[in-house]
Amino acid sequence: MMFYNSCLTPALIEVFVFLYSLMMKIMEYKKLVIYYFSGTGNARNVSHWIKDIAEKREIESEVIDISKLKTRKNIKLPKDALIGFCSPTHGFNFPPIMFHFLLRFPRSKNNSCFIMNTRAGMKAGKIFLPGLSGMVQYFSAIILKFKGFRIRAMQPVDLPSNWISFHPGLKPTVVDSIYSKRKRETERFAQQLLNGKRSFKGLYTLLIDILITPVAFAYYIVGRFVLAKSFYATRDCTMCKLCIQKCPIQAIKIVDDRPFWTYTCESCMQCMNICPERAIETAHGFVFAAYFLIKFYLLVKIYDLLQINSILEKCFSGWLNNTLRFFINASFIILLFIISYRVFHYFLKFKLFERLVVYTSLTRWKFWRRYKIENRY
Ligand SMILES: Cc1cc2nc3c(=O)[nH]c(=O)nc-3n(C[C@H](O)[C@H](O)[C@H](O)COP(=O)(O)O)c2cc1C
Repeated sequence: MMFYNSCLTPALIEVFVFLYSLMMKIMEYKKLVIYYFSGTGNARNVSHWIKDIAEKREIESEVIDISKLKTRKNIKLPKDALIGFCSPTHGFNFPPIMFHFLLRFPRSKNNSCFIMNTRAGMKAGKIFLPGLSGMVQYFSAIILKFKGFRIRAMQPVDLPSNWISFHPGLKPTVVDSIYSKRKRETERFAQQLLNGKRSFKGLYTLLIDILITPVAFAYYIVGRFVLAKSFYATRDCTMCKLCIQKCPIQAIKIVDDRPFWTYTCESCMQCMNICPERAIETAHGFVFAAYFLIKFYLLVKIYDLLQINSILEKCFSGWLNNTLRFFINASFIILLFIISYRVFHYFLKFKLFERLVVYTSLTRWKFWRRYKIENRY
């Protein structure tokens, strides 16, 4: 009996190993397609790291930059393929280009998918700090679920923050160290994903993500209509038009002989980072001045002129009154911002005004590094 048992155990193990590898072969995806959007290269690098791992496993793989797709309506979705969506997080959400892309994406043909968002990774001493996803993962997962996709993974990747309108670019040594850590993690994740494992790291911060939902909604409007309206080109601009050529969504055009940022701008930071003359800045001084002028002077004048207060008081009360007031305020602020950006752009041709704007732009100062990231795959 003992002899019988000891012979059976190795044989059983072999059968298990054989069955397991057979199962893995059946489960292995035949094709991988990753759709990505990237402002400064982080999401592009992540997409390529995963593609490289898939190709090592002889899985036919493709990485597609959605901003280069001629038409987003006729995407051919390969049957049974694993589909990835990868994009930076902008204001606790996907940037509109990615969000609209998902909305118009075809229905699943027996496809599995994964959602990846690159976030603002930082480093304090030896500690790696994560970014915040907000609604990115949930919104996309709901859309893809409705389209019939099986969601295999929701994964944030904390690569260096490129949000240089708000903070100086990170030091190159910090960038390198964040990059090498996140590359290792992403490759491990890719192996697991291709082994058929599920991973839902995106759900770990559910509570915080829910709490910042209102900010995500507000950013969706403010980001487009106010943040994009804070970029300008200084006198150092040589009109090489590199920013126009490289803008992933053709949001920059020439007005009054200098680059002008239209409302389609995603604030992806590509232009600011690639400008060879370092001539593109964020007009912090202008944004503050415009905000205070609009909120405490123009808005008061408009309310008086149109007698909005008395109309609101007469017709509505309580929360309805407050909500309406909020929306009226927001609409006027955005509208006035758009108008003031046009005026601001016109006045940039006057040297004194331009210098004043330049010296009140934090991005102008030497210590305010740019975020330059080459292809790292
Ligand atoms: C306008 C803007 C908004 C951002 N909002 C967030 C955010 O809400 N949460 C976060 O973690 N990172 C945020 N970031 C940082 C980027 O998501 C992050 O640096 C990303 O890795 C950049 O990817 P890319 O190089 O592919 O564009 C933001 C960056 C920009 C430019």
